[in-house]
Amino acid sequence: LVAGVDSSTQSSKVVVCDADTGEVVRTSRAPHPDGTEVHPDRWWDAYVEATGDGVLDGVAALAVGGQQHGMVTLDEDDVVVREALLWNDTRSAGAARDLVDELGGVAAWVDAVGSVPVASFTVTKLRWLAEHEPDAARRVARVVLPHDWLTGRILKEGKGFERWSTDRGDASGTGYWSASTNDYRLDLLELSLGRVLEVPEVLSPAAAAGRTAGGVLVAAGTGDNMGAALGLTTTPGDVVVSLGTSGTVFTRSETPIRDESGAVAGFADATGHHLPLMCTLNAARVLGAASALLGVDLAELDRLALQARPGADGLTLLPYLDGERTPDLPDATGTLGGLTRANATPENLARAAVEGMLCNLVAGVDALRDHGVRVDRVLLIGGASASRAVRELAPGLFRAPVAVPAPGEYVGIGAARQAAWALSGAAEPPTWQAGIEAEHEVVPGSEQEQASVVARYRDLLARTHGR
Ligand code: XUL
Repeated sequence: LVAGVDSSTQSSKVVVCDADTGEVVRTSRAPHPDGTEVHPDRWWDAYVEATGDGVLDGVAALAVGGQQHGMVTLDEDDVVVREALLWNDTRSAGAARDLVDELGGVAAWVDAVGSVPVASFTVTKLRWLAEHEPDAARRVARVVLPHDWLTGRILKEGKGFERWSTDRGDASGTGYWSASTNDYRLDLLELSLGRVLEVPEVLSPAAAAGRTAGGVLVAAGTGDNMGAALGLTTTPGDVVVSLGTSGTVFTRSETPIRDESGAVAGFADATGHHLPLMCTLNAARVLGAASALLGVDLAELDRLALQARPGADGLTLLPYLDGERTPDLPDATGTLGGLTRANATPENLARAAVEGMLCNLVAGVDALRDHGVRVDRVLLIGGASASRAVRELAPGLFRAPVAVPAPGEYVGIGAARQAAWALSGAAEPPTWQAGIEAEHEVVPGSEQEQASVVARYRDLLARTHGR
């Protein structure tokens, strides 16, 4: 047996699989505090709770998939210096703008590390720390990411820790490691913090981070999006849209994509290749907020949304409830446009919420298309992929057939697959197959209608934010 851990923004989920077939044998989860700033010990507490009651019995190898980008600062003795600032914390937006200017603009960053840093990236958080908490900044000896920290803690508690390590996927979200050259850019770390820190060793995809005294192999682990990509066993032409706490659009690619608009980040995947990715801060929780506003549950929100006409009779929601990362509008709030006495109905509001959340991600699918990516099929995953309204509206808005994989913890499954790979010593990961639960085609003749929904969304964005 092998286990994969998804240490996400809100909880720790554990999936135990058969190492040969990938069949899920058992799962468990435990919540931890969310927000944008969390002490890493809370991730450990949730991991301990989720792996209690013999969940890991018989497990020969495990790996951790974690929320990307979070800044975990450690002192000389590996004591956490301050709470980790997470991917969804926007306080370093100003630092991001400064760093872009100081290196000479967006093209210089894309040349250096394949991505234009925004507030999510670790490199910008370190600049914020240096500027706002200089005493804490001085105590930092090394900086690691959430999955690196949990992997290290598992090995420390298991008496098998040798050194801090990470993988290509997660390293590519720091802003000081390049997926094209497979190298750190320590000069950018220095640009950010004023000095160089110790950074974790970047392991190759099937390498072991260590082994516990009890003999359990702990694989390299990776970022959660890279984990999901590995868990889904995608084929060329597949683009994944993940509707979780964050919304992400990504695809596996043999070559890096160069995007100076900053919309598509040039991340690495967990198999030695690339994972161009666009990320928004507002996805599943937009539906949660809309149902709270309407005083209904998510099933009723779905029913209402599907009763409204396409385009919600002219009502448009820009869903930037938590600020936004793509487009880069960290201080934005949500905007409801086109409200009239005639269209002010619960049905239209529900519809506008679903359409707004999806239109925000259409930009990601189209950005990949603009870079020559084939979009034969969209794989829809994450909490909000359970919504019937989302499933039915997605093909028209994304202009591609949509497949919904069978419900599953794909980040955890991907991490488990990586663990099985490390255990096998083989050149390729084991062949596991994710089942498909539902397929939705583009409704013939609906193109015009859907295009006007997207056009109206873009128009409101341009008028409200000049983008
Ligand atoms: C990706 C990103 C998010 C987090 C969420 O760049 O910031 O998807 O990884 O856990």
